[in-house]
Amino acid sequence: MKTLELPPFDHQPKPYTGPSLETVVNLRKQYLTPSLLTYYKNPIMIVEGSMQYVYDEKGRRYLDAFGGIVTISVGHCHPYVLKKIREQMETLQHATTIYLHPVIGEYGEMLAHKMPGNLSVCYFVNSGSEANELALLMARLYTGNYDVIALRNAYHGGSAATMGLSAHSTWKYNLPHSFGVHHAIAPNPYRGPWGHDDPDAGAKYAADVQNLIELATPGQVAAFVAESIQGVGGALVYPDGFLSNAYRYCREAGGVCIADEVQTGFGRMGSHYWGFETQGVIPDIVTMAKGIGNGLPLAAVVTTPEIAQILTQRIHFNTFGGNPVSCAGGKAVLEVIDQEHLQQNSLEMGNHLMAGFKKLMSKHDIIGDCRGKGLMTGVELVTDRHSKKPASEQCARVFEHAKELGLLIGKGGFHGNVLRIKPPMCITRPDVDYIIEVLDIALSGL
Ligand SMILES: Cc1ncc(COP(=O)(O)O)c(C=O)c1O
Repeated sequence: MKTLELPPFDHQPKPYTGPSLETVVNLRKQYLTPSLLTYYKNPIMIVEGSMQYVYDEKGRRYLDAFGGIVTISVGHCHPYVLKKIREQMETLQHATTIYLHPVIGEYGEMLAHKMPGNLSVCYFVNSGSEANELALLMARLYTGNYDVIALRNAYHGGSAATMGLSAHSTWKYNLPHSFGVHHAIAPNPYRGPWGHDDPDAGAKYAADVQNLIELATPGQVAAFVAESIQGVGGALVYPDGFLSNAYRYCREAGGVCIADEVQTGFGRMGSHYWGFETQGVIPDIVTMAKGIGNGLPLAAVVTTPEIAQILTQRIHFNTFGGNPVSCAGGKAVLEVIDQEHLQQNSLEMGNHLMAGFKKLMSKHDIIGDCRGKGLMTGVELVTDRHSKKPASEQCARVFEHAKELGLLIGKGGFHGNVLRIKPPMCITRPDVDYIIEVLDIALSGL
């Protein structure tokens, strides 16, 4: 098998002294839930990370182009983020919001200043699922309505209510969880009825949201919920005009609009700080997680003062929400994104990546579509461009081969035929060239 040299990088991993890979596999088999999934036929053990690279127990370096599932936003173990976390950790690790602490308010202010419109009130939680649960609760209380419109091919989490919002059978257990949730057609210009050649595609897909509201609900809804680009669903970018029209129909039916920015926020889009901005809309509630904490268990719901007020009807409490260590880390992440111009880097590296995908597409017929914005990208493989039959098995082989060549990427879409490339935003031009070279070799080897 051909070998390739990763771009040079000045970091020496510490000698690994922990249990062997076999022991870790056995521990996991014996003591952890069998529902856990590992990537790769021979799973790899990641024991160290530095910026856009990770290391296995043997000290082998990999380019991490998936960022721990789109979570490492500014780089593994980013020194400034670590410094701020460590300082807070050594001073006060936990107290909860029943006492005052400066960092949560300061962080709330910083995050609110990143938001457009009247989105100025933050509620901190620990995961994307929790954030979406809370957003749903607020929307239902605020509007007095129950029904919700979500999208097919969406992923919003694994808790009861967010499993209901998600729309891939893969993630839905066979028990009631979707009461009141209606899923509109996924606005998929590659596979859906209206394609890239139709300038009105966005409005046409949004008409299904209107139709659902009219026919499947009491005509009144609590919310319309959508990722700004569908992540787990395979980096699906909506046609222009989709969200603006869907938001209009939702608001006309008394609902609020929820943007799930769990994967798309914090500059990853390159052209904009938030994914919803690429569609020219301002939501009423925004949920965020993953990249917000660069690996810390941190998530947030940001909304307007009017909507936030609704939770005062009862006490809503979250033990770790607003934890000082997570908030100190979250503040540092916001600072690093600005100081290191990572949004701009996402734009430039994202454009370079997309140009590379286009070249691969002209060489490899198996690529049916390449899409994305900034560093939120996907390459969809099909057995032939006419039938668009998902090339799931080939996708798995490319994915394995890339790992052998030192490149970690993600895999998604309902049929597992989309390569997901969503690296930390600190990625460099030689890294992007490396990604393209690896994919070229792996696709040529099919
Ligand atoms: C768009 C989106 N929303 C919500 C979630 C759920 O986040 P968590 O796994 O932190 O609960 C995910 C997780 O992948 C996601 O991609």
